[in-house]
Amino acid sequence: AQTTRIAVTPGDGIGPEVVAEAVRCLETLRTKHELALEWTRFPWPSHAWHEDHGVSWPEDALEQLQQYDAILLGALGDPGPIDDNSRYLLSDSVSLAPLLDMRKGFDQWVCERPARLLPGARQYLKDDRAKDIDMLVIRENSEGEYVGQGGRLRPGKPDEVATQMEVFTRRATERIIRYGFEQARQRAGERIQEGRTRSFRTLDGRSCESQVCVITKRNALRYWGDMYTEVFEEISQEFPDVATHHELVDAACMKFVQSPWAFDVVVASNLQGDILTDLAAVLSGGMGVAPSCNLNPTNPDMPSMFEPTHGSAPDIAGQGIADPTAMLFTTARMLDWLGRKDPVLAKAGKELFDAVAADLAANGGEQRATRQIGEAIRERLQA
Ligand code: NAD
Ligand code: IPM
Ligand code: MN
Repeated sequence: AQTTRIAVTPGDGIGPEVVAEAVRCLETLRTKHELALEWTRFPWPSHAWHEDHGVSWPEDALEQLQQYDAILLGALGDPGPIDDNSRYLLSDSVSLAPLLDMRKGFDQWVCERPARLLPGARQYLKDDRAKDIDMLVIRENSEGEYVGQGGRLRPGKPDEVATQMEVFTRRATERIIRYGFEQARQRAGERIQEGRTRSFRTLDGRSCESQVCVITKRNALRYWGDMYTEVFEEISQEFPDVATHHELVDAACMKFVQSPWAFDVVVASNLQGDILTDLAAVLSGGMGVAPSCNLNPTNPDMPSMFEPTHGSAPDIAGQGIADPTAMLFTTARMLDWLGRKDPVLAKAGKELFDAVAADLAANGGEQRATRQIGEAIRERLQA
């Protein structure tokens, strides 16, 4: 097979710590299966790079990254003592803007964030049904609240006005909702194969193997809410085998805690998806185990980007105690994705997923160093 090339961008804070474990696992898998896989490490975007160069990344960064088949990213954000968020999210900002520039520049319009409470993961909910939590939150990743349009009028003055525009297009709405239905169908197929069936009721009382729940805030944000609802209705006609459901985002937060096992696929806007997926991460055991990816399923010339849901975790950075599990599940997903071109990679991805899950089942809950967890998983890979 042609060599698959990965751009590795460790980033900030615990990013480099968890990425180091991912790279070691890739090394183990490459040797074991003689994978046609290579990677290049980029020190940008990161806070450190910005300190040295005064910019987040080189001018041709996107062009350089586009040469790769995928991007494996740690996390971005200054791990220093200053709360960086206000600085970073300003336009022309330090190291977070490139994250959004990558998603935008490579049209990574799908953000997939699965939340499944695997054996061994920390169970935050007391209810026993929490063991059945198995949802996939699909976050619209190209527009919505993240278009970055707006500004500050009369900054600092008592009569200052800040505006932040939200833009929703039918094209982007259709593609993300259709993607949601396709994933629901695929998940149903996989569950049936594994003998884990589920049942969701349609409005007319039929039972389906899978469900898509669309999230809006259409009682207050009615223009995009109405468009989402309408598109959802239309596309659902193409998927009579998938049950449909709608929740307002505030109620969805409530139900994520009260009965998260009742969700299957959830489709949400960029910001609402961002918020819901930190909550979903906790349902699956915490930020330390929650994977994520930013996919461009339509243009094979554009690399997809794989990063955990968590950030740079400044509160624990530098101590070697970050949980690499989320990063390693993310890496497994990357191999699975790349496996569309080279099936051996998909096989390696499955192996990595199984090793990480087995490690979690055996040792989850124990206090272990980042290195120790990575080491234990590599031992499983070599066994
Ligand atoms: P965070 O996800 O970095 O941390 C939230 C909490 O979860 C912290 O208590 C942290 O210690 C814990 N945590 C996160 N990952 C963990 C891991 N692997 N193991 C154990 N504990 C873990 O969110 P935050 O503190 O709000 O943000 C910190 C910085 O990261 C900010 O600059 C933020 O903007 C940025 N951020 C970046 C990304 C990204 O690059 N994709 C994502 C989210 C946040
Ligand atoms: C995430 C993060 C980013 C987002 C931030 C760092 C801009 O929270 O990937 O979930 O809001 O998308
Ligand atoms: Mn987030």
